[in-house]
Amino acid sequence: MIEIQDLSKTYQQAGSAIHAVNGVNISIEKGQTVAITGRSGSGKTTLLTLLAGLDRPTHGQISILGKNLTSMSEKEMGQFRGENIGIVFQKFHLMPYLTALENVSLPLEILGVKDADKKASEALALVGLEDRLTHLPAQLSGGECQRVAIARALVTGPSILLADEPSGNLDSHTGQKVMDLLFELAEKKKSTLILVTHDQTLASRCQRQINLTAGSISQ
Ligand SMILES: Nc1ncnc2c1ncn2[C@@H]1O[C@H](COP(=O)(O)OP(=O)(O)OP(=O)(O)O)[C@@H](O)[C@H]1O
Ligand SMILES: [Mg+2]
Repeated sequence: MIEIQDLSKTYQQAGSAIHAVNGVNISIEKGQTVAITGRSGSGKTTLLTLLAGLDRPTHGQISILGKNLTSMSEKEMGQFRGENIGIVFQKFHLMPYLTALENVSLPLEILGVKDADKKASEALALVGLEDRLTHLPAQLSGGECQRVAIARALVTGPSILLADEPSGNLDSHTGQKVMDLLFELAEKKKSTLILVTHDQTLASRCQRQINLTAGSISQ
């Protein structure tokens, strides 16, 4: 389902090279739950960004559902991502001028799905935000923004869910509830769930754990 081959991403910064992802090989089956762990700066977000096709690797290949991401145009990638991939970003990336409801219904509207607002409000209710539909991101707490980001990633029922520290801003009770939801929905939809986390309890709920050290896999 997901094949990552000899993947590297090198950033050039102030004349020096940062090997954020360095020679990574991973093969992930449909429906698998995978935790990516590793110290701050070990390349976890970079790897997720490459998997989402939001950045291009310096070297190597990623294929998802039999499609080679590296050979897709921006437009093809956008379409493919919209149809197949849900992403919870570490920094949320909510649209600041859209309400919680509008942020969650946007991916549905782009796909031309009917009853986008109804489905979006149902997704927001699942993460406990039925009373916050008209709030702008600036009028929400950090944990609430994180839950809007989770609802937005889930609302299209994607076959691949990528989540970067999805419980990072949530208290343990809310975190547990929202993570239960993430795992439940992934199982119901047979979605592949790849999550980055520093939380060992959450990592151990995944079928597989991949640890990154300085951009490379260390097991
Ligand atoms: N756009 C960029 N330009 C230059 N360097 C970058 C860029 N993005 C990330 N880096 C560097 O690449 C390395 C990996 O960053 P990345 O964000 O993937 O780490 P991470 O494992 O997600 O860390 P954290 O746990 O703190 O979120 C870091 O050293 C970071 O400073
Ligand atoms: Mg990160």
